[in-house]
Amino acid sequence: MAYSPVGQGGDLLRSPVLRKVAARHEATPGQVAVAWTLRLPGVISIPKAGDLAHVRENAAAAAIRLSPDDLAELDAAFPAPRRKQGLAML
Ligand SMILES: NC(=O)c1ccc[n+]([C@@H]2O[C@H](COP(=O)([O-])OP(=O)(O)OC[C@H]3O[C@@H](n4cnc5c(N)ncnc54)[C@H](OP(=O)(O)O)[C@@H]3O)[C@@H](O)[C@H]2O)c1
Repeated sequence: MAYSPVGQGGDLLRSPVLRKVAARHEATPGQVAVAWTLRLPGVISIPKAGDLAHVRENAAAAAIRLSPDDLAELDAAFPAPRRKQGLAML
């Protein structure tokens, strides 16, 4: 289960790579962030949205299919940790 998938609507969504991938899909950075969390079977994503436009955006993100190039660019910008790390307390 992907918690906080849009990074609480903060700096994550201003990432140049996220914006570049989003432009390629005529999507928003938030939609790419949600689509990334949904890229693997068996994973669900639970963005919180009070704004109706955000709710609609996030729901539509389920239809976005990220390409291997998109995923490679996102992985390079946001490398996976090399060892176990504690999660931030939110
Ligand atoms: N069980 C746990 O341990 C745990 C821990 C952390 C989080 N969570 C869950 O994660 C969810 C929320 O956590 P979170 O608030 O930390 O992070 P989040 O879902 O990443 O961010 C929510 C914030 O992002 C904004 N937002 C939502 N969709 C957006 C979009 N498409 N574009 C731009 N901004 C967008 C929302 O604004 P608006 O409200 O104005 O739309 C809200 O301010 C909840 O479902 C929560 O239950 C659970």
